[in-house]
Amino acid sequence: MCGIVGYVGKRQAAPILIDGLYQLEYRGYDSVGIAVSDGNSLEIVKKTGRVREIEGARGLRGTLGIGHTRWATHGGINVENAHPHTYQRITLVHNGIIENAQKLKQDLLQRGEIFSSETDSEVIAHLIADAYRGDLLSAVMESCARLDGSYALVVFCEDEPRKLVCARMRSPLVVGTGKGGAVVASDLSAVAEKDATLYSLNDGEFAQLSETEIDFYRSSGDKINKFPIAFDLEEGNSDLKGYRHYMRKEIDEIPDVLRLSRQKFDENFRNSDFCKVLCQTEYIHIIACGTAYHSGLCAKTAIERICRIPVEVHVASEFRDSDPILQSGTLVIAISQSGETADTIAAVRLAKRKGAYIAAVVNVKYSSLTRLADTVLYTQAGREVAVAATKSFNAQLMTLYSFAEALAAVKGRRAPSLNGFERKALRTISLSESVQSWVPYFVGAKSAYFIGRGEDMCTALEGSLKLKEISYLPSEGYAAGELKHGTLALIEPYTPVVAIVTRREIAQKTMNAVHEAYSRGATIFLVTCFEEYCGMDEVKASVLIPKCPPVFSPVLSAIPLQLLAYYTSVARGNDPDKPRNLAKSVTVE
Ligand code: AGP
Repeated sequence: MCGIVGYVGKRQAAPILIDGLYQLEYRGYDSVGIAVSDGNSLEIVKKTGRVREIEGARGLRGTLGIGHTRWATHGGINVENAHPHTYQRITLVHNGIIENAQKLKQDLLQRGEIFSSETDSEVIAHLIADAYRGDLLSAVMESCARLDGSYALVVFCEDEPRKLVCARMRSPLVVGTGKGGAVVASDLSAVAEKDATLYSLNDGEFAQLSETEIDFYRSSGDKINKFPIAFDLEEGNSDLKGYRHYMRKEIDEIPDVLRLSRQKFDENFRNSDFCKVLCQTEYIHIIACGTAYHSGLCAKTAIERICRIPVEVHVASEFRDSDPILQSGTLVIAISQSGETADTIAAVRLAKRKGAYIAAVVNVKYSSLTRLADTVLYTQAGREVAVAATKSFNAQLMTLYSFAEALAAVKGRRAPSLNGFERKALRTISLSESVQSWVPYFVGAKSAYFIGRGEDMCTALEGSLKLKEISYLPSEGYAAGELKHGTLALIEPYTPVVAIVTRREIAQKTMNAVHEAYSRGATIFLVTCFEEYCGMDEVKASVLIPKCPPVFSPVLSAIPLQLLAYYTSVARGNDPDKPRNLAKSVTVE
C-alpha cells in the first residue's frame, strides 16, 4: 500500500506534505514525490527511496499540494513510476490497485495517448483529463465509474488551482480541516492535530476541498452530510523517545498493552450484547493474515482447550477464494492490526454474504474492518509504527484470550487465570535481552528453524516470520514432531534451531526433536519455563520465561523471539522498522 497526503490553505504546502509523508512512510517507502501549485505554476519533485530524499523540496512555493510515498505494485521502483502522476492539466496521487488498468490503457494507447510510466495510477490521470470539461469533480466521478479495483485518490487540475478532489474505494482516506486550510491523508497520523475536524470517506464517496470549504458527494453527484470522527491525539502520534528504533520501543510497551487490552475487553464486553451472540456460538472461523494469522492459531488452541468449541483458522487470501461452509451458529473472528488488509476485508465480505456474524479484533480505530464488523474487540496496542508487528501481536493474544475466558464463562466452563501477565511480560523482556548473545549464530547462518508443539508451534511460526521479515534470513517455523518427516534433511552443522517448550506434558517430545537436530550438528536455543532443560549439554543458550498457564504462554514466549529478530536485523545492517519490500498494512490484493 502507499501513503497519500494533500493540502490546500493559507500555509505553504510543501512542509505540510513532507511532514505528513514522514508519518505515512510506514505504509510504503520505495519512492516519494510531491506536487505544489502557487496558482500559476506546478512544481513536481519525485525521487526513489525514503521521504528524506525530497527534503530539498521543502522550500517549494505554493499553498496547494499533494504528496505520495509508494509501495510498488504495478511498475518497478524508479522515478517515472513514482507519484504524483500528471497528464495534461491533471495531477494525482493514488493508493490502491486498478484491476482493469491494462484494458483501459490499451484503449488509450490506441487513441494515441502517450504514457510516461508503467503504473495503473497514470491511467486514471489520463481518464480524468479526457473526461474534463471544466468541472474536476464531475470528471473524477465519471472516470471512477470506469475503474475496477481499489483506489484512494487526490486529484488536482491546473484550471481549478484552489481545489482538490478526493475519491475512495476500498483504500482508506481521511479528509478534514486543519493547518489553516483543508487536509487529506491515508490515515489520521498525517493530519491529526488539536483543532482538526476530520472525516473518514466511505467507499464510493467523493470530497471536494478548498481553503474554506469541504463538500462530500455520492457517485450520483448528490451532496451528503458526514459526521466528524473522534480521535485521540495521543494515539496518532508516536515518537522514538530515545530509542534507536520503533520496534525496540514497541516491544517495551508490551506490558502496558497487555494490561490495557484486557481492561478494555472487560469494559466492552460488559457493556455489549456480544454475550448473547456467544450463547448461540457453536463454531468459530478465524480469518487473518501474517502475524494476525498466527495470533488466530494461538487463539484456536486456547478456545478449543478451554471452551470445547471447534475453531478453524484461515489465511484470508485463501478463505476469500474458497466456498466456505458456515453453519448456523457460526461466529467469524477477523483479526487485523490495521483493519485495512485487503485480503482480510474481502474474506469478511464473503463471510457476511454467507450470513455469518463478524467480530473484528482490530487495533486502528475507524479502519475499514471496524465498519464491516458486527462487533469490534479493540486491542489497545496504540500506534504501531514498525512494519514488524510486535506489541500488536501480544495485544491480539490478550484480547483473544480474554474472549476465550468470556466464552468459557458463557458455556459454563472455567479458563485458567489471565492475571499477572503485565508483570510477567516485564520480567520476560528483561530476561530476553540475553538473546543478544545468540545473534552471532544467526547473522551468518544460511537458514534458521523454530520448532514447538501445540501453542508453542504457533509461537514458532511467529518467531520465524519476525526473523525473516526484518533480517531477511531464510527461516521456517515448524511443528517439532514434523521435523523428522523431511525438514530434518536441511539441518547441517551450526544450523540454528530455536525450540519453544512451555507445556509440561509434551515437553519431552519437543526435546526429542531437539536431540534429533542436535545430533546432526544444529546449534540449539531454548525458550522455556522449565529450568531443568536450560542446563542440558545440547542447549547452547536459553531464555527461562516466567511460568504461566501453557495455553496462554505465547503472550510471553513470543517476546524473546521478537527481540532475537530485532537484534539480528540490526546486526545485519538492516532497518528493522522499514524492512525491504514490505509495508505496514497491505491494502492491495
Ligand atoms: C507482521 O509482522 C507483518 N507486518 C504482516 O504479516 C502483518 O501481520 C499482516 O500484513 C497483517 O496485517 P494486519 O494485522 O494489519 O491485517
